[in-house]
Amino acid sequence: MANVFDEGKAILAEIEAASPATPEEVEQFRIRFLGSKNIVKPLMGKMRDIPGDQKKDFGLLIKEIKGAAEAKYEAAKVQAEAAAEEAAAANLDLTAPGEPIEVGARHPVSITMNRIIRIFERIGFTVAEEREVEDDWHNFTAMNTPEDHPARDMQDTYYLQDSTAMLLRTHTSSVQARVMTNTQPPIRIIAPGRVYRNETISARSHCQFHQVEGLYIDKGVSFADLKQTLYHFAREMFGPGIEIRLRPSYFPFTEPSAEMDVYLGTDTERTKRLTKGTGWLEILGCGMVDPNVLANCDIDPEIYTGFAFGMGIERTALQNFDIGDIRLLFENDIRFLKQFTAAI
Ligand code: DAH
Repeated sequence: MANVFDEGKAILAEIEAASPATPEEVEQFRIRFLGSKNIVKPLMGKMRDIPGDQKKDFGLLIKEIKGAAEAKYEAAKVQAEAAAEEAAAANLDLTAPGEPIEVGARHPVSITMNRIIRIFERIGFTVAEEREVEDDWHNFTAMNTPEDHPARDMQDTYYLQDSTAMLLRTHTSSVQARVMTNTQPPIRIIAPGRVYRNETISARSHCQFHQVEGLYIDKGVSFADLKQTLYHFAREMFGPGIEIRLRPSYFPFTEPSAEMDVYLGTDTERTKRLTKGTGWLEILGCGMVDPNVLANCDIDPEIYTGFAFGMGIERTALQNFDIGDIRLLFENDIRFLKQFTAAI
């Protein structure tokens, strides 16, 4: 029986003498002493041949062998990994060019929206962002469009399921009501965001798009202020030579109301098509905030006046980047989107 114990002791001695250093040596060690076909297993099979009074000692020897193998393996593994890391660091080529970092591209809608925002920020407007799921009051009623008002038909609305009170905002004008009910004048905000309308999706229109809303309320704000602010915006956006015109229009929340066109001319096929041969392109709606809107939002119309404007982003983005189909803006096709890397 002595030789089974001797065999065990020989394995233990081998484990103690081993000094695996490289990751390969450590792996060899693991396979030999701890792997599924390790050399301790056959020894354990001999347990049944051992006389009863020696079984306990033999069991303890096997346990010692396993413990020693595991301890050596764990320590050697840590050391080998550290050594490999050190070797890699020593081989580091500090003159090698860096790993290229792929530059992302901004979405054409974001680029256009950011340009608009920056122009207004420079003249003292601050950005106000609000919820897209809105209640009927902020989207319509506060904006002087009560339930039976025909102007509600101007915008086909998505209502939330089982609710006529909650909806997806149809315009960023809802932010006007949010801001006015929270803040007393002076108010000077620009509100960018996404809006939704139940419209048939085509190359020219979509059920979701973006708008930027502007609102300025203080004592003595006049139509002349509105006109100068929008003229300034047009010059910054389209160049100092741009001509604008304001055409009388109708919106429930402004009185008087207007639409602003910029003159692009008819020199190219593109501008001819865009302006339907007139040279003029409509870019926004605007007007003096209706006194009813101020009163609805607890601002005294006897003391304060203000102007507001709202513009769509997509049309300008399509025009800026010469994109032929609005649906491309919402498909998130990476091959389309990465073309705008250079455009900030
Ligand atoms: N909310 C209007 C729309 O979605 C745009 C608009 C027109 C906003 C006139 C205004 C405004 O603030 O004064 O068509």
